Amino acid sequence: MLSCSKYEPRFHIGISQCSEDIWRDWQNAEMKLEASFHEEAQLSFTTAHDDSRRQTQQIDSLVAAGIDLLIVAPNQLQTVSPAIDRAYDSGIPVIVFERKTDSQKYTAFVSADNYEMGRQMGEYIATCLGGKGNILEIVGLKGSSPAYERHCGFHAAISHYLDIHVTATLQGDWTETTAYKATKQWLNGESVNGKCIDVVFGHNDRTAMGARRAYVEWLEGMENNTSPSQLPLFCGIDGLPGEQGGIRQVCDSLLTASYIYPTRGDLLLQLALDILEGKPYEKETLLTSALVTHKNANVLYLESEEVVRRSQRLERMQLLASSYLKELSAQKAITVLACGVIGLLLIAIVLFYLYHRGQVNIRRERVLNNLWNMENASDSPSAFSVHEASSAPANQTGEKTASLEGDVPAAFKFSDASPFINRFREVVESNMSNSELSVEDLAANMNLSRVQLYRKVKAITGSSPVELLRTARLNRGYQLLLTTDKTVSEVAYAIGFSAPAYFTKCFKDEFGMVPGDVRK
Ligand code: FRU
Repeated sequence: MLSCSKYEPRFHIGISQCSEDIWRDWQNAEMKLEASFHEEAQLSFTTAHDDSRRQTQQIDSLVAAGIDLLIVAPNQLQTVSPAIDRAYDSGIPVIVFERKTDSQKYTAFVSADNYEMGRQMGEYIATCLGGKGNILEIVGLKGSSPAYERHCGFHAAISHYLDIHVTATLQGDWTETTAYKATKQWLNGESVNGKCIDVVFGHNDRTAMGARRAYVEWLEGMENNTSPSQLPLFCGIDGLPGEQGGIRQVCDSLLTASYIYPTRGDLLLQLALDILEGKPYEKETLLTSALVTHKNANVLYLESEEVVRRSQRLERMQLLASSYLKELSAQKAITVLACGVIGLLLIAIVLFYLYHRGQVNIRRERVLNNLWNMENASDSPSAFSVHEASSAPANQTGEKTASLEGDVPAAFKFSDASPFINRFREVVESNMSNSELSVEDLAANMNLSRVQLYRKVKAITGSSPVELLRTARLNRGYQLLLTTDKTVSEVAYAIGFSAPAYFTKCFKDEFGMVPGDVRK
Protein backbone atom coordinates (compact mmCIF):
# COMPACT_ATOMS: atom_id res chain seq x y z
CA MET A 1 0.00 0.00 0.00
CA LEU A 2 1.46 3.31 -1.06
CA SER A 3 0.66 6.54 0.67
CA CYS A 4 1.35 10.03 -0.63
CA SER A 5 0.55 12.99 1.57
CA LYS A 6 2.55 16.01 2.74
CA TYR A 7 0.38 17.91 5.14
CA GLU A 8 -2.40 17.10 7.55
CA PRO A 9 -4.92 15.25 5.34
CA ARG A 10 -8.62 15.48 6.05
CA PHE A 11 -9.69 12.81 3.57
CA HIS A 12 -8.20 9.36 3.27
CA ILE A 13 -9.05 8.01 -0.18
CA GLY A 14 -8.49 4.32 -0.98
CA ILE A 15 -7.85 3.35 -4.62
CA SER A 16 -8.34 -0.30 -5.50
CA GLN A 17 -6.84 -1.06 -8.92
CA CYS A 18 -7.57 -4.43 -10.50
CA SER A 19 -4.32 -4.53 -12.46
CA GLU A 20 -0.87 -3.07 -12.73
CA ASP A 21 0.05 -1.97 -16.23
CA ILE A 22 0.92 1.08 -18.29
CA TRP A 23 -2.72 2.24 -18.42
CA ARG A 24 -3.05 2.05 -14.60
CA ASP A 25 0.33 3.77 -14.23
CA TRP A 26 -0.88 6.76 -16.21
CA GLN A 27 -4.05 6.93 -14.22
CA ASN A 28 -2.35 6.61 -10.82
CA ALA A 29 0.15 9.32 -11.80
CA GLU A 30 -2.73 11.63 -12.75
CA MET A 31 -4.44 11.03 -9.40
CA LYS A 32 -1.21 11.70 -7.50
CA LEU A 33 -0.55 14.87 -9.45
CA GLU A 34 -4.09 16.09 -8.79
CA ALA A 35 -3.77 15.17 -5.10
CA SER A 36 -0.64 17.27 -4.85
CA PHE A 37 -2.89 20.31 -5.33
CA HIS A 38 -5.16 19.16 -2.51
CA GLU A 39 -3.33 18.93 0.77
CA GLU A 40 -6.56 17.70 2.36
CA ALA A 41 -6.33 14.41 0.39
CA GLN A 42 -4.30 11.37 1.34
CA LEU A 43 -4.24 8.52 -1.17
CA SER A 44 -3.69 4.81 -0.52
CA PHE A 45 -3.26 2.66 -3.63
CA THR A 46 -3.66 -1.11 -3.87
CA THR A 47 -3.32 -3.33 -6.93
CA ALA A 48 -4.78 -6.80 -7.27
CA HIS A 49 -2.65 -7.92 -10.25
CA ASP A 50 -5.76 -9.24 -12.09
CA ASP A 51 -6.74 -11.43 -9.13
CA SER A 52 -10.33 -10.90 -7.97
CA ARG A 53 -9.88 -12.67 -4.62
CA ARG A 54 -6.93 -10.51 -3.85
CA GLN A 55 -8.89 -7.38 -4.78
CA THR A 56 -11.73 -8.44 -2.47
CA GLN A 57 -9.29 -8.70 0.45
CA GLN A 58 -7.66 -5.42 -0.44
CA ILE A 59 -11.00 -3.58 -0.48
CA ASP A 60 -11.91 -5.05 2.93
CA SER A 61 -8.51 -3.96 4.29
CA LEU A 62 -8.89 -0.42 2.96
CA VAL A 63 -12.30 -0.17 4.62
CA ALA A 64 -10.87 -1.55 7.87
CA ALA A 65 -8.07 1.03 7.66
CA GLY A 66 -10.74 3.72 7.88
CA ILE A 67 -10.72 5.23 4.39
CA ASP A 68 -13.27 7.99 3.79
CA LEU A 69 -13.98 7.05 0.18
CA LEU A 70 -13.24 4.12 -2.13
CA ILE A 71 -12.32 4.43 -5.80
CA VAL A 72 -12.44 0.99 -7.43
CA ALA A 73 -11.97 -0.66 -10.82
CA PRO A 74 -13.43 -4.17 -10.23
CA ASN A 75 -11.38 -6.91 -11.86
CA GLN A 76 -14.54 -8.90 -12.61
CA LEU A 77 -18.18 -8.08 -12.13
CA GLN A 78 -19.43 -10.86 -9.90
CA THR A 79 -16.42 -11.79 -7.84
CA VAL A 80 -15.52 -8.30 -6.62
CA SER A 81 -19.01 -6.84 -6.26
CA PRO A 82 -19.72 -8.27 -2.74
CA ALA A 83 -16.67 -6.44 -1.34
CA ILE A 84 -17.77 -3.20 -3.02
CA ASP A 85 -21.26 -3.69 -1.58
CA ARG A 86 -19.76 -4.16 1.91
CA ALA A 87 -17.78 -0.95 1.58
CA TYR A 88 -20.85 0.94 0.39
CA ASP A 89 -23.04 -0.55 3.16
CA SER A 90 -20.53 0.56 5.78
CA GLY A 91 -21.32 4.14 4.77
CA ILE A 92 -18.26 4.85 2.63
CA PRO A 93 -18.93 6.62 -0.69
CA VAL A 94 -17.79 4.43 -3.59
CA ILE A 95 -16.70 5.58 -7.04
CA VAL A 96 -16.63 2.72 -9.56
CA PHE A 97 -14.63 3.51 -12.63
CA GLU A 98 -14.08 1.98 -16.03
CA ARG A 99 -15.13 -1.60 -15.06
CA LYS A 100 -18.62 -2.22 -13.75
CA THR A 101 -19.93 -3.89 -10.60
CA ASP A 102 -23.08 -6.02 -10.84
CA SER A 103 -24.97 -4.12 -8.16
CA GLN A 104 -26.34 -0.62 -7.78
CA LYS A 105 -24.36 0.00 -4.61
CA TYR A 106 -22.09 2.81 -5.71
CA THR A 107 -22.07 6.57 -5.32
CA ALA A 108 -20.76 7.45 -8.77
CA PHE A 109 -19.61 5.71 -11.93
CA VAL A 110 -17.04 7.05 -14.41
CA SER A 111 -16.16 5.41 -17.72
CA ALA A 112 -15.93 5.73 -21.45
CA ASP A 113 -18.57 3.80 -23.42
CA ASN A 114 -16.99 0.38 -24.01
CA TYR A 115 -19.85 -0.86 -26.19
CA GLU A 116 -19.56 2.20 -28.44
CA MET A 117 -15.80 1.79 -28.67
CA GLY A 118 -16.22 -1.82 -29.80
CA ARG A 119 -18.88 -0.77 -32.27
CA GLN A 120 -16.81 2.02 -33.82
CA MET A 121 -13.82 -0.28 -34.07
CA GLY A 122 -16.03 -2.82 -35.89
CA GLU A 123 -17.15 -0.11 -38.33
CA TYR A 124 -13.59 1.00 -38.93
CA ILE A 125 -12.33 -2.52 -39.54
CA ALA A 126 -15.23 -3.26 -41.88
CA THR A 127 -14.34 -0.14 -43.87
CA CYS A 128 -10.67 -1.19 -44.00
CA LEU A 129 -11.71 -4.58 -45.30
CA GLY A 130 -14.02 -3.11 -47.91
CA GLY A 131 -16.83 -5.17 -46.39
CA LYS A 132 -15.08 -8.49 -46.93
CA GLY A 133 -12.58 -10.49 -44.93
CA ASN A 134 -11.65 -12.58 -41.90
CA ILE A 135 -11.09 -11.37 -38.38
CA LEU A 136 -9.38 -12.85 -35.35
CA GLU A 137 -10.76 -11.39 -32.12
CA ILE A 138 -8.91 -11.66 -28.82
CA VAL A 139 -11.18 -10.66 -25.98
CA GLY A 140 -10.33 -9.15 -22.59
CA LEU A 141 -10.58 -10.89 -19.22
CA LYS A 142 -13.63 -13.11 -18.89
CA GLY A 143 -16.14 -11.63 -16.49
CA SER A 144 -14.86 -8.06 -16.77
CA SER A 145 -17.41 -5.61 -18.12
CA PRO A 146 -15.26 -3.89 -20.81
CA ALA A 147 -14.45 -7.24 -22.42
CA TYR A 148 -18.12 -8.11 -22.68
CA GLU A 149 -19.20 -4.67 -23.88
CA ARG A 150 -16.40 -4.26 -26.43
CA HIS A 151 -17.23 -7.69 -27.80
CA CYS A 152 -20.94 -6.93 -28.08
CA GLY A 153 -20.36 -3.52 -29.71
CA PHE A 154 -17.89 -5.00 -32.18
CA HIS A 155 -20.20 -7.79 -33.23
CA ALA A 156 -23.14 -5.43 -33.51
CA ALA A 157 -21.15 -3.45 -36.08
CA ILE A 158 -19.76 -6.27 -38.21
CA SER A 159 -22.97 -8.22 -38.18
CA HIS A 160 -24.14 -5.81 -40.92
CA TYR A 161 -21.40 -7.06 -43.24
CA LEU A 162 -22.27 -10.48 -44.52
CA ASP A 163 -18.84 -11.12 -46.05
CA ILE A 164 -16.97 -10.34 -42.92
CA HIS A 165 -16.36 -13.31 -40.66
CA VAL A 166 -14.91 -13.63 -37.22
CA THR A 167 -12.82 -16.71 -37.85
CA ALA A 168 -11.95 -17.19 -34.19
CA THR A 169 -12.42 -15.52 -30.82
CA LEU A 170 -9.56 -16.23 -28.42
CA GLN A 171 -9.74 -15.73 -24.68
CA GLY A 172 -7.32 -13.09 -23.41
CA ASP A 173 -7.00 -11.41 -20.04
CA TRP A 174 -5.79 -7.89 -21.01
CA THR A 175 -2.12 -8.91 -20.83
CA GLU A 176 0.34 -9.03 -23.73
CA THR A 177 1.71 -12.38 -22.64
CA THR A 178 -1.61 -14.20 -22.64
CA ALA A 179 -2.52 -12.76 -26.05
CA TYR A 180 0.86 -13.83 -27.42
CA LYS A 181 0.53 -17.38 -26.11
CA ALA A 182 -3.10 -17.77 -27.19
CA THR A 183 -2.36 -16.49 -30.70
CA LYS A 184 0.73 -18.66 -31.08
CA GLN A 185 -1.14 -21.74 -29.97
CA TRP A 186 -3.98 -20.97 -32.36
CA LEU A 187 -1.63 -20.34 -35.29
CA ASN A 188 0.12 -23.59 -34.64
CA GLY A 189 -3.14 -25.48 -34.44
CA GLU A 190 -3.60 -28.11 -37.09
CA SER A 191 -6.85 -26.87 -38.58
CA VAL A 192 -5.85 -23.25 -38.85
CA ASN A 193 -4.34 -21.41 -41.76
CA GLY A 194 -3.11 -18.15 -40.25
CA LYS A 195 -2.77 -16.49 -43.59
CA CYS A 196 -6.54 -16.32 -43.93
CA ILE A 197 -6.81 -13.66 -41.23
CA ASP A 198 -7.01 -10.09 -42.53
CA VAL A 199 -7.44 -8.22 -39.25
CA VAL A 200 -6.68 -9.04 -35.61
CA PHE A 201 -8.81 -7.12 -33.15
CA GLY A 202 -7.38 -7.22 -29.64
CA HIS A 203 -9.57 -5.75 -26.90
CA ASN A 204 -6.69 -3.57 -25.84
CA ASP A 205 -3.42 -2.46 -27.41
CA ARG A 206 -1.29 -4.80 -25.32
CA THR A 207 -3.41 -7.72 -26.52
CA ALA A 208 -3.10 -6.61 -30.17
CA MET A 209 0.69 -6.22 -29.76
CA GLY A 210 0.98 -9.68 -28.13
CA ALA A 211 -0.89 -11.21 -31.09
CA ARG A 212 1.34 -9.31 -33.49
CA ARG A 213 4.48 -10.71 -31.85
CA ALA A 214 3.08 -14.24 -32.21
CA TYR A 215 2.23 -13.60 -35.87
CA VAL A 216 5.66 -12.23 -36.70
CA GLU A 217 7.33 -15.25 -35.10
CA TRP A 218 4.95 -17.63 -36.85
CA LEU A 219 5.60 -16.10 -40.25
CA GLU A 220 9.36 -16.08 -39.69
CA GLY A 221 9.23 -19.74 -38.79
CA MET A 222 7.37 -20.75 -41.92
CA GLU A 223 9.30 -22.91 -44.35
CA ASN A 224 8.91 -20.72 -47.43
CA ASN A 225 9.89 -17.70 -45.27
CA THR A 226 6.86 -15.60 -46.07
CA SER A 227 7.67 -11.90 -45.82
CA PRO A 228 6.27 -9.87 -42.87
CA SER A 229 4.27 -7.76 -45.31
CA GLN A 230 1.75 -10.56 -45.23
CA LEU A 231 0.95 -9.82 -41.64
CA PRO A 232 -2.72 -9.04 -40.99
CA LEU A 233 -3.76 -5.61 -39.69
CA PHE A 234 -3.74 -5.22 -35.90
CA CYS A 235 -6.20 -3.03 -34.03
CA GLY A 236 -6.48 -2.42 -30.32
CA ILE A 237 -7.95 -0.12 -27.72
CA ASP A 238 -6.39 2.27 -25.15
CA GLY A 239 -4.50 4.74 -27.39
CA LEU A 240 -2.17 5.81 -24.59
CA PRO A 241 0.29 8.66 -25.03
CA GLY A 242 4.03 8.20 -24.57
CA GLU A 243 6.76 6.12 -26.20
CA GLN A 244 5.15 2.80 -25.24
CA GLY A 245 1.58 3.90 -25.87
CA GLY A 246 -0.87 2.93 -28.62
CA ILE A 247 -0.72 6.31 -30.38
CA ARG A 248 2.99 5.85 -30.98
CA GLN A 249 2.34 2.26 -32.16
CA VAL A 250 -0.13 3.55 -34.75
CA CYS A 251 2.39 6.20 -35.82
CA ASP A 252 4.95 3.43 -36.26
CA SER A 253 2.43 1.25 -38.19
CA LEU A 254 2.66 -1.52 -35.62
CA LEU A 255 -1.04 -1.05 -35.05
CA THR A 256 -3.48 0.04 -37.74
CA ALA A 257 -5.85 1.61 -35.28
CA SER A 258 -6.47 2.11 -31.60
CA TYR A 259 -9.15 3.83 -29.60
CA ILE A 260 -8.40 6.25 -26.80
CA TYR A 261 -9.61 4.80 -23.51
CA PRO A 262 -9.32 7.87 -21.26
CA THR A 263 -7.56 7.44 -17.93
CA ARG A 264 -8.64 10.77 -16.33
CA GLY A 265 -7.19 10.19 -12.87
CA ASP A 266 -7.50 13.95 -12.28
CA LEU A 267 -11.25 13.85 -12.83
CA LEU A 268 -11.64 10.85 -10.51
CA LEU A 269 -9.87 12.60 -7.67
CA GLN A 270 -11.79 15.83 -8.18
CA LEU A 271 -15.05 13.85 -8.12
CA ALA A 272 -13.96 12.10 -4.92
CA LEU A 273 -13.26 15.43 -3.23
CA ASP A 274 -16.57 16.90 -4.40
CA ILE A 275 -18.41 13.94 -2.87
CA LEU A 276 -16.43 14.18 0.39
CA GLU A 277 -16.97 17.92 0.63
CA GLY A 278 -20.71 17.57 0.02
CA LYS A 279 -20.61 19.44 -3.28
CA PRO A 280 -22.97 18.56 -6.17
CA TYR A 281 -21.66 15.82 -8.50
CA GLU A 282 -22.75 13.67 -11.45
CA LYS A 283 -23.70 10.09 -10.54
CA GLU A 284 -22.80 8.77 -14.01
CA THR A 285 -19.97 10.36 -16.00
CA LEU A 286 -19.45 9.26 -19.59
CA LEU A 287 -15.97 10.07 -20.86
CA THR A 288 -15.67 11.04 -24.51
CA SER A 289 -13.11 9.34 -26.64
CA ALA A 290 -11.84 8.97 -30.22
CA LEU A 291 -10.46 6.55 -32.77
CA VAL A 292 -6.72 6.71 -33.50
CA THR A 293 -5.75 5.94 -37.10
CA HIS A 294 -2.91 6.78 -39.48
CA LYS A 295 -4.74 9.99 -40.33
CA ASN A 296 -4.64 11.54 -36.87
CA ALA A 297 -1.97 9.54 -35.00
CA ASN A 298 0.89 11.97 -35.66
CA VAL A 299 -1.08 14.99 -34.50
CA LEU A 300 -2.39 13.12 -31.48
CA TYR A 301 1.11 11.97 -30.61
CA LEU A 302 2.51 15.51 -30.80
CA GLU A 303 -0.34 16.77 -28.67
CA SER A 304 0.07 13.97 -26.16
CA GLU A 305 3.80 14.77 -25.98
CA GLU A 306 2.91 18.36 -25.12
CA VAL A 307 0.49 17.15 -22.43
CA VAL A 308 3.23 14.94 -21.01
CA ARG A 309 5.70 17.82 -21.02
CA ARG A 310 3.18 20.06 -19.28
CA SER A 311 2.42 17.55 -16.58
CA GLN A 312 6.13 16.93 -16.05
CA ARG A 313 6.62 20.68 -15.73
CA LEU A 314 3.74 20.76 -13.27
CA GLU A 315 5.32 17.96 -11.27
CA ARG A 316 8.61 19.85 -11.16
CA MET A 317 6.80 22.98 -10.04
CA GLN A 318 5.06 20.97 -7.38
CA LEU A 319 8.38 19.60 -6.17
CA LEU A 320 9.88 23.08 -6.18
CA ALA A 321 6.90 24.48 -4.31
CA SER A 322 7.06 21.77 -1.67
CA SER A 323 10.82 22.15 -1.19
CA TYR A 324 10.29 25.93 -1.00
CA LEU A 325 7.59 25.36 1.63
CA LYS A 326 9.93 23.08 3.57
CA GLU A 327 12.65 25.73 3.39
CA LEU A 328 10.18 28.35 4.54
CA SER A 329 9.20 26.33 7.56
CA ALA A 330 12.87 25.64 8.34
CA GLN A 331 13.54 29.37 8.10
CA LYS A 332 10.56 30.02 10.32
CA ALA A 333 12.00 27.64 12.90
CA ILE A 334 15.38 29.37 12.68
CA THR A 335 13.74 32.79 13.06
CA VAL A 336 11.80 31.60 16.11
CA LEU A 337 15.02 30.20 17.56
CA ALA A 338 16.94 33.39 16.81
CA CYS A 339 14.18 35.50 18.38
CA GLY A 340 14.32 33.24 21.43
CA VAL A 341 18.09 33.64 21.72
CA ILE A 342 17.87 37.42 21.22
CA GLY A 343 15.09 37.57 23.81
CA LEU A 344 17.19 35.61 26.31
CA LEU A 345 20.17 37.85 25.62
CA LEU A 346 18.08 40.95 26.19
CA ILE A 347 16.77 39.53 29.46
CA ALA A 348 20.34 38.68 30.48
CA ILE A 349 21.51 42.21 29.63
CA VAL A 350 18.65 43.81 31.56
CA LEU A 351 19.28 41.51 34.56
CA PHE A 352 23.01 42.26 34.40
CA TYR A 353 22.31 45.97 34.25
CA LEU A 354 19.90 45.79 37.20
CA TYR A 355 22.34 43.70 39.20
CA HIS A 356 25.21 46.02 38.38
CA ARG A 357 23.21 49.11 39.32
CA GLY A 358 22.19 47.40 42.55
CA GLN A 359 25.82 46.63 43.31
CA VAL A 360 26.83 50.21 42.62
CA ASN A 361 24.14 51.46 44.95
CA ILE A 362 25.21 49.00 47.63
CA ARG A 363 28.81 50.11 47.26
CA ARG A 364 27.85 53.74 47.37
CA GLU A 365 25.70 53.14 50.46
CA ARG A 366 28.44 51.19 52.19
CA VAL A 367 31.06 53.76 51.42
CA LEU A 368 28.77 56.48 52.72
CA ASN A 369 28.06 54.46 55.87
CA ASN A 370 31.74 53.93 56.44
CA LEU A 371 32.45 57.55 55.91
CA TRP A 372 29.78 58.36 58.39
CA ASN A 373 31.20 55.87 60.88
CA MET A 374 34.64 57.18 60.26
CA GLU A 375 33.57 60.75 60.86
CA ASN A 376 31.98 59.70 64.12
CA ALA A 377 35.10 57.89 65.10
CA SER A 378 37.63 60.54 64.25
CA ASP A 379 37.83 64.21 63.40
CA SER A 380 40.65 63.67 60.97
CA PRO A 381 39.61 60.71 58.87
CA SER A 382 42.19 58.42 57.40
CA ALA A 383 42.07 57.37 53.79
CA PHE A 384 42.66 53.80 54.96
CA SER A 385 39.83 53.90 57.41
CA VAL A 386 37.19 54.59 54.79
CA HIS A 387 36.56 50.87 54.57
CA GLU A 388 37.17 49.97 58.14
CA ALA A 389 33.87 49.09 59.67
CA SER A 390 33.66 49.77 63.36
CA SER A 391 31.20 46.93 63.50
CA ALA A 392 33.38 44.46 61.57
CA PRO A 393 33.95 41.26 63.50
CA ALA A 394 37.37 40.54 64.93
CA ASN A 395 39.24 37.52 63.62
CA GLN A 396 41.29 35.04 65.62
CA THR A 397 44.26 37.35 65.86
CA GLY A 398 42.07 40.18 66.99
CA GLU A 399 42.31 41.88 63.61
CA LYS A 400 39.32 43.75 62.33
CA THR A 401 38.14 42.70 58.90
CA ALA A 402 37.10 45.28 56.37
CA SER A 403 33.42 45.72 55.85
CA LEU A 404 33.72 45.90 52.08
CA GLU A 405 34.95 42.49 51.14
CA GLY A 406 35.48 42.39 47.46
CA ASP A 407 35.36 46.18 47.19
CA VAL A 408 38.57 46.76 49.06
CA PRO A 409 41.65 44.55 49.12
CA ALA A 410 42.60 42.64 52.18
CA ALA A 411 45.02 45.49 52.90
CA PHE A 412 42.42 46.80 55.27
CA LYS A 413 42.49 43.77 57.48
CA PHE A 414 45.12 45.16 59.75
CA SER A 415 45.30 45.55 63.47
CA ASP A 416 44.85 49.02 64.95
CA ALA A 417 47.64 48.08 67.23
CA SER A 418 50.15 47.37 64.47
CA PRO A 419 52.73 50.11 64.78
CA PHE A 420 54.24 49.11 61.44
CA ILE A 421 50.99 49.59 59.56
CA ASN A 422 50.21 52.81 61.43
CA ARG A 423 53.56 54.12 60.36
CA PHE A 424 52.97 52.96 56.79
CA ARG A 425 49.59 54.67 56.83
CA GLU A 426 51.12 57.94 57.98
CA VAL A 427 53.75 57.79 55.25
CA VAL A 428 51.17 57.07 52.57
CA GLU A 429 48.80 59.78 53.76
CA SER A 430 51.41 62.44 54.02
CA ASN A 431 52.74 61.69 50.53
CA MET A 432 49.49 60.95 48.81
CA SER A 433 49.39 64.08 46.66
CA ASN A 434 52.82 63.30 45.27
CA SER A 435 52.18 61.69 41.90
CA GLU A 436 55.86 60.78 41.65
CA LEU A 437 55.71 58.74 44.86
CA SER A 438 57.26 55.33 44.27
CA VAL A 439 57.46 52.14 46.33
CA GLU A 440 61.16 52.89 46.77
CA ASP A 441 60.23 56.29 48.33
CA LEU A 442 57.77 54.59 50.66
CA ALA A 443 60.39 52.00 51.63
CA ALA A 444 63.00 54.68 52.23
CA ASN A 445 60.57 56.54 54.48
CA MET A 446 60.12 53.36 56.50
CA ASN A 447 63.86 52.70 56.61
CA LEU A 448 63.42 49.48 54.63
CA SER A 449 64.47 48.19 51.26
CA ARG A 450 61.79 47.96 48.56
CA VAL A 451 61.73 44.15 48.88
CA GLN A 452 61.54 44.22 52.68
CA LEU A 453 58.62 46.64 52.56
CA TYR A 454 56.82 44.52 50.02
CA ARG A 455 57.23 41.31 52.01
CA LYS A 456 56.15 42.86 55.31
CA VAL A 457 53.15 44.70 53.95
CA LYS A 458 52.05 41.69 51.94
CA ALA A 459 52.44 39.37 54.94
CA ILE A 460 50.33 41.57 57.23
CA THR A 461 47.68 42.83 54.83
CA GLY A 462 47.70 40.36 51.94
CA SER A 463 48.11 43.26 49.50
CA SER A 464 51.13 44.91 47.94
CA PRO A 465 52.24 48.43 48.97
CA VAL A 466 51.26 49.71 45.50
CA GLU A 467 47.76 48.30 45.87
CA LEU A 468 47.38 49.86 49.28
CA LEU A 469 48.65 53.20 47.98
CA ARG A 470 46.21 53.11 45.09
CA THR A 471 43.26 52.16 47.30
CA ALA A 472 44.14 54.83 49.82
CA ARG A 473 44.29 57.42 47.07
CA LEU A 474 40.92 56.40 45.66
CA ASN A 475 39.28 56.39 49.08
CA ARG A 476 40.65 59.82 49.74
CA GLY A 477 39.36 60.90 46.33
CA TYR A 478 35.92 59.62 47.24
CA GLN A 479 36.03 61.62 50.49
CA LEU A 480 37.11 64.77 48.68
CA LEU A 481 34.37 64.42 46.09
CA LEU A 482 31.82 63.97 48.83
CA THR A 483 33.01 66.62 51.23
CA THR A 484 34.52 69.39 49.05
CA ASP A 485 33.62 71.44 45.98
CA LYS A 486 36.79 70.43 44.14
CA THR A 487 36.38 69.45 40.49
CA VAL A 488 37.13 65.87 39.46
CA SER A 489 40.47 67.01 37.97
CA GLU A 490 41.38 68.90 41.12
CA VAL A 491 40.58 65.82 43.21
CA ALA A 492 42.65 63.62 40.85
CA TYR A 493 45.68 65.89 41.18
CA ALA A 494 45.17 66.24 44.96
CA ILE A 495 45.48 62.51 45.48
CA GLY A 496 48.47 62.07 43.22
CA PHE A 497 46.92 61.09 39.86
CA SER A 498 48.72 62.93 37.09
CA ALA A 499 45.90 62.26 34.58
CA PRO A 500 42.24 62.88 35.55
CA ALA A 501 41.07 60.39 32.89
CA TYR A 502 43.13 57.66 34.50
CA PHE A 503 41.71 58.59 37.90
CA THR A 504 38.20 58.25 36.49
CA LYS A 505 39.03 54.81 35.13
CA CYS A 506 40.58 53.57 38.37
CA PHE A 507 37.69 55.07 40.34
CA LYS A 508 35.17 53.22 38.19
CA ASP A 509 37.11 49.98 38.62
CA GLU A 510 37.12 50.46 42.37
CA PHE A 511 33.61 51.76 43.06
CA GLY A 512 31.69 50.74 39.94
CA MET A 513 30.78 54.34 39.17
CA VAL A 514 32.48 57.38 37.74
CA PRO A 515 33.55 60.22 40.09
CA GLY A 516 30.74 62.44 38.80
CA ASP A 517 28.19 59.89 40.13
CA VAL A 518 29.33 60.61 43.72
CA ARG A 519 28.14 64.17 43.39
CA LYS A 520 24.75 63.06 42.02
C1 FRU B 1 -5.87 -1.63 -18.01
C2 FRU B 1 -6.74 -2.29 -18.95
C3 FRU B 1 -6.77 -1.58 -20.28
C4 FRU B 1 -8.08 -1.93 -20.77
C5 FRU B 1 -8.88 -1.86 -19.53
C6 FRU B 1 -10.09 -2.68 -19.51
O1 FRU B 1 -5.78 -2.31 -16.83
O2 FRU B 1 -6.36 -3.61 -19.13
O3 FRU B 1 -5.71 -1.93 -21.09
O4 FRU B 1 -8.53 -1.13 -21.79
O5 FRU B 1 -8.06 -2.24 -18.50
O6 FRU B 1 -10.72 -2.59 -18.30
